[in-house]
Amino acid sequence: MTYEDIYDLVKSTRSTRRFKPGINISDLELKEIISVVSNTSSAKNMQPLKYITVTNKDLVKDISNNVTWAAHLRDWEQKEEEQPSAYIIILNDTNIDGFEMFDCGIALQTILLTAKIKGYDSCPLASIDKEQCRNIFSLPNHIKPILGIALGVACENVEIVKVKLDDTNYYRDENDSHCVPKRTTNEILIRTF
Ligand SMILES: Cc1cc2nc3c(=O)[nH]c(=O)nc-3n(C[C@H](O)[C@H](O)[C@H](O)COP(=O)(O)O)c2cc1C
Repeated sequence: MTYEDIYDLVKSTRSTRRFKPGINISDLELKEIISVVSNTSSAKNMQPLKYITVTNKDLVKDISNNVTWAAHLRDWEQKEEEQPSAYIIILNDTNIDGFEMFDCGIALQTILLTAKIKGYDSCPLASIDKEQCRNIFSLPNHIKPILGIALGVACENVEIVKVKLDDTNYYRDENDSHCVPKRTTNEILIRTF
């Protein structure tokens, strides 16, 4: 893999909220993604994170209906036919004394990139209904949902644009493309010694 490959992979891995209907993602594909995650770094190597994969159509629908999709887009709601094909839920095992939020970030990006390599688009979702997850997955008290990741194939165009007037809010342009303002390298690399 070259620098250009990783650059393009990360650049094309955008949060997607309008998915194509009729796309099936198999349990095996999701297991393969988790298999990649099992190799990632973990603070103190405690590995407190657990995962649940969801491809059952009724459950995908139930989870999707309770997510807050694109809170900044006040006049848009995800339609049922735009719902994702699958979910991965990241959970923290509180019986393990780890640093779950650091680990969760590493796991999240690993999942997003691996899914993209497999041809799937994604959206991280802090807004999944954790109580709903507790109920539908019959979770014991020490297993706490942290984050959901929606997976499917995009039926929207998502592109990176420049930040104007320090406004990083995403928006849809006149062509209905979802635009994500990103700060430039020179803005975020603040010192070079
Ligand atoms: C930890 C985390 C939680 C997020 N939760 C949500 C969410 O609940 N709903 C949503 O629509 N997007 C969610 N997002 C997606 C962000 O809105 C998105 O990353 C941001 O707009 C930048 O777009 P990009 O991912 O394409 O760079 C989340 C992203 C992260 C990293």
